[in-house]
Amino acid sequence: MCGIVGYTGHQPAKEIIIDGLRKLEYRGYDSAGIALLEGDHVVVRKKKGKIANLEKAIAGEKFYATTGIGHTRWATHGAPTDGNAHPHISQDGKIAVVHNGIIENYMELKEKLEKEHGITFRSETDTEVIAQILGVLHQEKKSLQECVYEASKVMKGAYTFAAICEDEPDRIVAFRKDTPLIAGIGDGCNFLASDVTPLLKYLDEIYLIDNGEMIVCTPDRIEIFDEDGKPVHKDSLHVNWSVEDAQKGGYQHFMLKEINEQPKAVSETLGRRLDDGNHVHLDGISLTKEDLANINKIDIVACGTAYHAGLIGKYLIEKFAGIPVEVDVASEYRYRDPLVDEHTLFIAVSQSGETLDTLMSLREAKSKGARVLSIVNVVGSSVARESDDVFYTWAGPEIAVASTKAYTTQLICMYLLALYIGRLNDHITEEYSQKVIAELKQLPDKIQDVLDHSSSVESMAKLLYNRQQVFYIGRGLDASVAYEGSLKLKEISYINSFAIAAGELKHGTIALIEPETTVIAIATQDFLYPKMYSNIEEIRARHAHIISLVKKGHEDIRKISTDVLEIPDCMDEVAPVLAIVPLQLFSYYMARERGENIDKPRNLAKSVTVE
Ligand code: AGP
Repeated sequence: MCGIVGYTGHQPAKEIIIDGLRKLEYRGYDSAGIALLEGDHVVVRKKKGKIANLEKAIAGEKFYATTGIGHTRWATHGAPTDGNAHPHISQDGKIAVVHNGIIENYMELKEKLEKEHGITFRSETDTEVIAQILGVLHQEKKSLQECVYEASKVMKGAYTFAAICEDEPDRIVAFRKDTPLIAGIGDGCNFLASDVTPLLKYLDEIYLIDNGEMIVCTPDRIEIFDEDGKPVHKDSLHVNWSVEDAQKGGYQHFMLKEINEQPKAVSETLGRRLDDGNHVHLDGISLTKEDLANINKIDIVACGTAYHAGLIGKYLIEKFAGIPVEVDVASEYRYRDPLVDEHTLFIAVSQSGETLDTLMSLREAKSKGARVLSIVNVVGSSVARESDDVFYTWAGPEIAVASTKAYTTQLICMYLLALYIGRLNDHITEEYSQKVIAELKQLPDKIQDVLDHSSSVESMAKLLYNRQQVFYIGRGLDASVAYEGSLKLKEISYINSFAIAAGELKHGTIALIEPETTVIAIATQDFLYPKMYSNIEEIRARHAHIISLVKKGHEDIRKISTDVLEIPDCMDEVAPVLAIVPLQLFSYYMARERGENIDKPRNLAKSVTVE
């Protein structure tokens, strides 16, 4: 979603800011703009559509500014137009603002500004309210820092914003409320941004800005102030992602690169949490036997793909640890007044750690006394910072909007956590735990085996890419894999697709099966195999195109399937980590055959920082 970049230093700011915006493109956006402190004037340029449109529009202009802010906008209030794009400026044109979030009381503020200060609004956005408030305060001879501080007190909602003012050269003032903001410590220059990716090539030390904090950046210092305006001293954080991690590395798309990185990512996640004796250790997470005895239920809350990882987490924790688990999508959980108390362990799952609904659910559970553990990829993200304990996935940066390696590493965290809890409360034996761990350790090689056979998935996609609808069915753990497989396909190929527990087919959905329908039947669970076999027979009787996804060795399935996809033999419990890989590849190749924008699908954002 919206991305903010700011630079103040001694180099031409325009190039650095535009390059930074490009790095934030993966978050999703529909317009882009920059504001530069050019001499003693604020210059704003903004354009609907891609950053390339903005670059084209300013190609003939020469800018000397060494301080500026930039923005990629994902439209919420007002259509994606040049006028609604950020930055927005104050009525007198002296102050420019970029914003990420939604100002909930903007109508009330707008009316007040119109009536009491004669402001004429130029856009349909909530953001313009910030620029106008700052402008009004500035006319009262207040400094930009004072204006930002005062403005932050009258707004409600999520409002992380950055501002520059033509009366204060070489200075950016920013405020954080509910959407991410970091400050990057450069050499003779400083940065701010929505996440670390635009900064990787310039620096490796950052400050994580907390909610309610304001930062003042000049080329030689970054000052941070708390909600009361008092200076804050905080330690910087070392960033260990490299520039290469966030580049395509020869792959046509980030998604394909990230699918192929899964053996390495899974191995990294396992390596961080297994000791030499193959025991799970949760260094940095304090979960003792006594803590566990105090917990009588676990709530797993997340959105999209992370929610699907939660569904598998429920199965694993209930099986390995015998503790009841509820899984909920965050946008529902936060408004349903969940039954939570100090005996609840709340697990938030999030790649970005910035998904607003997940963050708000976390706060809801915490306010009711729950202990909060999060499974997060982005180090220092909001979800991570507000949790009592963090189980990092260590997947490295995930740039493609469609989540792949973050999902498989979230699953690995679920296995390790469930095993750890299961041994702590003696629900499983050491022998069983060792057996599962031995299987987990084989996963990187087995995922590689699936990847090595990707050409068969590619050929399948070449035949099927113009299909109108694809169903995914499965039972037990495979039902959760089906949900994730289906989400992957629809988000990048735009094919109408949905997933259903195979046993539910007969209760309505089978009415939709016709010869043109493609059904992907996932049947990796040995004890449910006969049941899946019968479901596939029922679909076959309706002449659908059936792709069965099974472990190697199930030759009988060929008799009743149009095509078969295989994964290496494994314990049923770990099969989801393998089964999802051919489904990710299938979605990727289907979208590629259809010529879609795979890494940045329409209407979607990588980091959903608004409701
Ligand atoms: C997955 O492919 C998605 N694009 C999306 O469902 C994502 O998983 C969801 O928005 C949650 O994001 P998070 O993990 O960063 O919280």
